[in-house]
Amino acid sequence: MDALVARAVDRLRSARHVAALTGAGISIESGIPPFRGKGGLWERFDPMEIAHIDAFLADPALVWRVLVKELKDIIDRAQPNDGHKGLARLEAMGILQTVITQNIDGLHQLAGNTDVIEFHGSFAWQRCLQCDQRVETRKVDASVLPPRCRCGGILRPDAVFFGEMIPPAALWRSQEVAARCEVMLVIGTSAIVQPAASMPIIARQSGAVVIEINPEPTPLTGVISNYLIQGKAGEVMNGIVSGLESTTARTEGGLDFRP
Ligand code: APR
Repeated sequence: MDALVARAVDRLRSARHVAALTGAGISIESGIPPFRGKGGLWERFDPMEIAHIDAFLADPALVWRVLVKELKDIIDRAQPNDGHKGLARLEAMGILQTVITQNIDGLHQLAGNTDVIEFHGSFAWQRCLQCDQRVETRKVDASVLPPRCRCGGILRPDAVFFGEMIPPAALWRSQEVAARCEVMLVIGTSAIVQPAASMPIIARQSGAVVIEINPEPTPLTGVISNYLIQGKAGEVMNGIVSGLESTTARTEGGLDFRP
């Protein structure tokens, strides 16, 4: 086992409160493109022109055509990968309690995590700009854009556009979880979008061990995170899960007497 994976396994085994903060990188292996870097959505679009609430309100049909419809087609087909499944396994083992995710794809819930804070909202639902009624995205007919509610109002994703507030309940709970955890896994995020990127800072300042899992260093690396396990989310999570399963088996076999 990789030395840093072994170190993470050891820390996770003894922690009572564990949280994860995830970003687009964890869903790449499910076929969902990230925002930044090679193949990222913001390589093709200027987020301020296409993902800002003012852009949506100015031309909803355009934003639906170039961004929302494409996301709908990709997310409708996407399935959890080993990264998501690893976090669900950690919850099932009683190690991980909460996932704070910046992703809107719903893949953590599909993998089996039960306490998922959707920091940037959810793509599973659309909301009517006129009557506020919510409609499940999979039931939305996107053949005419922008799709409309039964009342005639335009539907918008129930996700946070640039220029909008983080849902207050998601922000407060995330801050509370970050302040309470003893270990925070920070997986697949470039950690540059605020306020999500400050959750690892709150965790570290409150005494948690912050472990990054990412093929690339981020602004947190070497400053906020205790260490970076450099690799893809799926591969690293498989290593962590098998490390935990084998140490649990050893404990059950009576060879490991640590509490
Ligand atoms: N496993 C883990 N991480 C990966 C992988 C992988 N297989 N491949 C790439 N990464 C990492 C990249 O190195 C990068 O650090 O995933 C990160 C993706 O970064 P972003 O695209 O910036 O995604 P994210 O951090 O989630 O963006 C935050 O920005 O535009 C907004 O609202 C959007 O929620 C999003 C926010």
